[in-house]
Amino acid sequence: CGIVGILGRAPVAEQLVDSLKRLEYRGYDSAGVATLEGDHLERRRAEGKLKNLEKRLQAEPLTGHTGIGHTRWATHGKPTENNAHPHATDRVAVVHNGIIENFRELRAALEKKGAVFKTETDTEIVVHLVDSFLQQGIKPVEAVRAALLELRGAFALGFIFAGDDDLMIGARNGPPLAIGHGDGEMYLGSDAIALGPFTDTISYLEDGDWVVLTRKGAVIYDKTNAIVHRDAVKHSASTSLVDKANYRHFMAKEIHEQPEVVGHTLARYIDMASERVMLPVKLPFDFKDVQRISITACGTASYAGYVAKYWFERLARIPVELDVASEFRYREAPLRKGDLAIFISQSGETADTLAALRYAKAEGVHTLSVVNVPTSTIARESETVLQTLAGPEIGVASTKAFTCQLMVLASLAVAAGKARGELSDEDEIKLVHGLVEIPRLMAAALTLEPQIEKLARDISKSKDVLYLGRGTSYPLALEGALKLKEISYIHAEGYAAGELKHGPIALIDENMPVVVIAPHDRVFEKTVSNMQEVAARGGNIILMTDAKGAAEATIESLVTIVLPDMAAAFTPMVYAIPVQLLAYHTAVVMGTDVDQPRNLAKSVTVE
Ligand code: G6P
Repeated sequence: CGIVGILGRAPVAEQLVDSLKRLEYRGYDSAGVATLEGDHLERRRAEGKLKNLEKRLQAEPLTGHTGIGHTRWATHGKPTENNAHPHATDRVAVVHNGIIENFRELRAALEKKGAVFKTETDTEIVVHLVDSFLQQGIKPVEAVRAALLELRGAFALGFIFAGDDDLMIGARNGPPLAIGHGDGEMYLGSDAIALGPFTDTISYLEDGDWVVLTRKGAVIYDKTNAIVHRDAVKHSASTSLVDKANYRHFMAKEIHEQPEVVGHTLARYIDMASERVMLPVKLPFDFKDVQRISITACGTASYAGYVAKYWFERLARIPVELDVASEFRYREAPLRKGDLAIFISQSGETADTLAALRYAKAEGVHTLSVVNVPTSTIARESETVLQTLAGPEIGVASTKAFTCQLMVLASLAVAAGKARGELSDEDEIKLVHGLVEIPRLMAAALTLEPQIEKLARDISKSKDVLYLGRGTSYPLALEGALKLKEISYIHAEGYAAGELKHGPIALIDENMPVVVIAPHDRVFEKTVSNMQEVAARGGNIILMTDAKGAAEATIESLVTIVLPDMAAAFTPMVYAIPVQLLAYHTAVVMGTDVDQPRNLAKSVTVE
């Protein structure tokens, strides 16, 4: 969910909505605002996209100068108007991101005292809890302080109060919350992007902090209730407005940006002149001492990690364990001091990945994160941060962040191989040369778009699609299936090509397209045999390969997408392009909401 709050000098409803538009990536099930109209609180809320809220506000405008807003990704309670935030009593209105874990106990206790609950949300207990203190005559700041002591879980909160036009309170315990400093105005927001139109001066609350805002400024308290100072930083990215340029969707723009942003990322990690890896930071460990790497991430980022596992094992001979963060955080993995744990996250805010990072830190291993947002919590809490330079990614389905993650991880794997003496100077130069070629090859892959667009029309008629690959193409097959299902809602599965015969082959018939990702590398022939098995059973194959592969794979019922020839080591970055384009165009044919597919959110700050 996304939160915004404004203590303004003019009516704030329109600004709140502008800011919510920038926060929609965090959820878009429903949205709402509350303002102080004279002495009392008023709300406007709507189910569905923000345009519904805008309509509501046109019909029933709000003019208050103090307000909070929210865009929701439902956790407790359906995404209806009634469950939409802000939640309020006559005395207090609240917006909330996260989960209040002990809401059942608190609700029961408050109901006993006579509170009447109107929604199915966990958030409403915060409202009633604070309200119960206000009813006793306790002042707002003290009421919130007392309420915070009772709340368990992960949350970011924003409060405004009836009868107090110069007061807003924010609290952070888990999900991020930023304060924006204006001129006689103050802001609260889930991130700097949300506050971009208003101010570029931002302070981030640390975990456990809470803040009392007035138009004059902010007083921040830490979890022990001591007043603390949090630096204000100038935030340049926040001012750059994110727009679609001439593309129909952010996702299309982001797919097409890849040669450029992967190039920027490359330039940060490679010394172009000598064609050597040059990490922008000094690592606080020596890869020679690392006996094992654990990689943890969620969603698409975990598939980048899966590709990297192959790279670290092959190039640096370091065993790698890979987990999705929601499993890693609870499986009590034994970690050896001195080993390395890598966390990959576009947003740097994914709750499970953050929890996994904290677990690893407590176990005393070195932590390194590959993140796109350098001010994010994961970046701030990691020992070492390697940034991807993808720029703001708005489409919910990750594309350019993924390939930039791959570029950073490839560079790191080469650096590791070099440090451990597994790679010679010559090997390094050869590998780096391969990396330097990637942006150009990605641009060449983008020229396949018209062919893929046609193919997408066929795919859109299917109910299920299978993706197969071996080696580093296997995680890419998983990513291909994920991309397709998340934006087109067509069921898809990714499989290791060799596993086909152990189950999924039973599904093959003439209605099931099979996308085979197979550059002409050392496992190509093996993958071709698996493809033969599909063809023999009438399956329709779409083969993504290069010229050599296309020449050798002669099967009927085959559509071939021919990618440029390239060094075998780093093919996933280039093959990601047709995989993404196929999902994108299929979704366009299906007419789904490509940038904001149903039920998903870009940044998931709850478990
Ligand atoms: C969500 C997004 C995915 C993303 C995943 C991990 O599920 O919809 O696109 O891969 O979160 O996000 P992160 O920001 O940690 O990379």
